[in-house]
Amino acid sequence: MSQQPVLLPYADPEFLTDPFPLYRQLRDEGPVRRAVIAGGLEVWLVTRYEDALAALSDPRLSSDIRDASDSRLMQQLPATERESFLRTMLRADPPDHTRLRRLVSKAFTARRVAELRPRVQAITDRLLDAIVPTGRADLVKDFALPLPVTVISELLGVPTADRHDFQRWTDDMIRRGSEPPDPAVVDTAWRHMRSYLTELLQTKRDRPGNDLLSALIVARDEEQRLDEDELVAMTFLLLVAGYITTVNLIGGGITALLTHPDQLTSLRDDPALLPDAIEEFLRYDGPVNPGIARFTREDVEIAGVTIPRGATVVVASAIADRDPARFTDPDRLDITRQDNAHLAFGHGIHYCLGAPLARLEGQVAIGTVLRRLPGLTLAVPPSELRWRPSGLRGPEHLPVTFTP
Ligand code: HEM
Repeated sequence: MSQQPVLLPYADPEFLTDPFPLYRQLRDEGPVRRAVIAGGLEVWLVTRYEDALAALSDPRLSSDIRDASDSRLMQQLPATERESFLRTMLRADPPDHTRLRRLVSKAFTARRVAELRPRVQAITDRLLDAIVPTGRADLVKDFALPLPVTVISELLGVPTADRHDFQRWTDDMIRRGSEPPDPAVVDTAWRHMRSYLTELLQTKRDRPGNDLLSALIVARDEEQRLDEDELVAMTFLLLVAGYITTVNLIGGGITALLTHPDQLTSLRDDPALLPDAIEEFLRYDGPVNPGIARFTREDVEIAGVTIPRGATVVVASAIADRDPARFTDPDRLDITRQDNAHLAFGHGIHYCLGAPLARLEGQVAIGTVLRRLPGLTLAVPPSELRWRPSGLRGPEHLPVTFTP
């Protein structure tokens, strides 16, 4: 490839507000583009749907970061993260991936998750009870964030009172702007998180509950199906993956509706469209952006381009999900869209374990907001919304007004 790597300008608020014109240009220019992403890392972007789909089920593309030759990737990671937190299913290949995923997959099946609906509805209503009389709210801080945090905490058996601590550490860890993050801040956050989780697991060992962490402790202590570092890493993955993306689905979905009044009206008129609407929010502007990282185990040819061994590939699901070769009129938000097999939850063996839960939370959250907050409108012009500068996209705040 003779092209220079293109810089994705994560420090530019205009780009963050709407990265899609640049994404479209990149996809039009070629199926595989070298790019510099957050933190100055050079990656190979796979931008077209068919290639992205194939890449996500290609065993030559590893999820294990140790397969990357760009040692800056590993060096950028704080020692605590390198030592333990990488030992999750998300960063593992088979057979470790298979073993780790199997330990928790039953808790996240569509059937088990459907049983959580009344509880998700109750948490949603409690949060909205506090908002309804006021006529105004920040729907990220007051709603889209606390809802998934509370749901995943209850499922795992994590005290919800601790959420402010672990949210702060997570923010410090994943804040990926255009500059490399301050290693001291990141490292301190990882250390706090690790000691918090270690203590939490000890408390559960002493006093087991009817929750997923207590079940995992049995798998560890009585059945030796995972080691202690893997147990800490699994706890971290489920806790954090359980909310940092879903907050963006809820916040981003509501934003998409408020900036597309015709779609909002259609959904209010026909709430049965809600499940399709959630899929469309995920396709149109999903939380994982620009996409999903993989590392080449050997030279890999994609669409005629040879990507060298040890390279970091970003399978750009957010770009591929607007590929006109796969989706009709892809830049149009259409909540009635059918045949919407987007890649926002990935594809293949790492397909999002929490997809049924995220869908349930999205449906309950957005459906209830529309029912209980009449006259909902943005309190600022859309251009004044700030979007997160990390690889997890969503509005940082969502000031709204409504009829109390
Ligand atoms: C994996 C997206 C919600 C847990 C993934 C992957 C994506 C994704 C794209 C694949 C990563 C890869 O292939 O490397 C999302 C989105 C969500 C969401 C967009 C919300 C809208 C959740 C929730 C949980 C969760 C609620 C609950 C625990 C996981 C786990 C994995 C994963 C454990 C790793 C699966 C594996 O490696 O086999 N997610 N996720 N996610 N997600 Fe989600």
